[in-house]
Amino acid sequence: MKILGIETSCDDTSAALVERTDAGFVVHKNTVSSQIDIHKKYGGIVPEVAGRAHADMIIPVIRETISEPPDVIAVTAGPGLITSLVVGVEVAKGLSMGWGDIPIVRTNHIEGHIYSVLLGDSAPKEIVFPALALIVSGGHTELILMRDHGDYKLVGRTRDDAAGECFDKIGKLVGFSYPGGPKISKAAKNGNPKALSLPRPMIGSGDFDFSFAGLKTAARYWLEDNELGKEISTEDFCASVEQTIVDVLIKKTVNAAAVHNVKTIILGGGVSANPKLRDTLLQNFPNTIIPELQYTTDNAAMIAAAGYFHAIKKQFTPWRELTADPGWELVD
Ligand code: KG4
Ligand code: ZN
Repeated sequence: MKILGIETSCDDTSAALVERTDAGFVVHKNTVSSQIDIHKKYGGIVPEVAGRAHADMIIPVIRETISEPPDVIAVTAGPGLITSLVVGVEVAKGLSMGWGDIPIVRTNHIEGHIYSVLLGDSAPKEIVFPALALIVSGGHTELILMRDHGDYKLVGRTRDDAAGECFDKIGKLVGFSYPGGPKISKAAKNGNPKALSLPRPMIGSGDFDFSFAGLKTAARYWLEDNELGKEISTEDFCASVEQTIVDVLIKKTVNAAAVHNVKTIILGGGVSANPKLRDTLLQNFPNTIIPELQYTTDNAAMIAAAGYFHAIKKQFTPWRELTADPGWELVD
């Protein structure tokens, strides 16, 4: 089965051609056009600008990815920015109709991040269930229990900011351009993670929910009262912020894995590119599967992979009924 994936939920325009073979997923092509340089000027994503940039790029990106009709189209229908989502969704409808009613899988973006762990040469062919997915991105921080493909239960989530959002907002306070996450992580490499003690909100709350807004505020107050580079270097500050976020994520995830007796932990979403998070989770739970770096941030190959498991169950949406849903929750 050859699947065309289409992803335009946030600030990356992406199309991918993915095939499921006996050996697992084969990514024939994964084209990603990033809008980071456009949004840098504004210090964050401007939805109107993102929608227009997707409209400019989506046809060239699809042309570069595929030259003949696939068996299935998997398109991200939510969650995300409505101005961005509609571009991919409408193009998927047009392609389906034009190619003679090719079946469409209406795919959830978070489900895509979960299935990103099955992509690439070193990836496993299958997920061993039950599994616990920690999805950490700019918009989401969720712990999802999976008993099988398509069987999701929400175990925990952030009550305010997402982990990536926290990295980005603190990055902005430090003076890094958008997105701040990768820059904090780079500076943290040469810093002392114990230099500064920051609050770890809800670390002992007994449930599996997260809260990152207080950490952002504490970082802001510290930066208002102190000068970076005096007693504490930028590297030390970044290492301390990173350590705090990683500590909270790991503690809750490993506890939830034990309570639910899972065989596998899945790490996904843009923040899963963070080396400290990857390494610490692997040390604490060796049966953790982590996406290859190229599949950590938004891409259409992961949407095609997630779509495959619906396609084999014939869970299709006719193009006439396909709509984008910016608030689509994978699990309530
Ligand atoms: O999944 P993604 O590409 O987009 C969303 O769906 O949000 O995630 C982007 C997020 C941004 O917040 C970015 O700062 C964060 O992932 N990120 C990182 C790193 N690389 C990307 N955060 C911390 N460390 C990194 N190395
Ligand atoms: Zn994402």
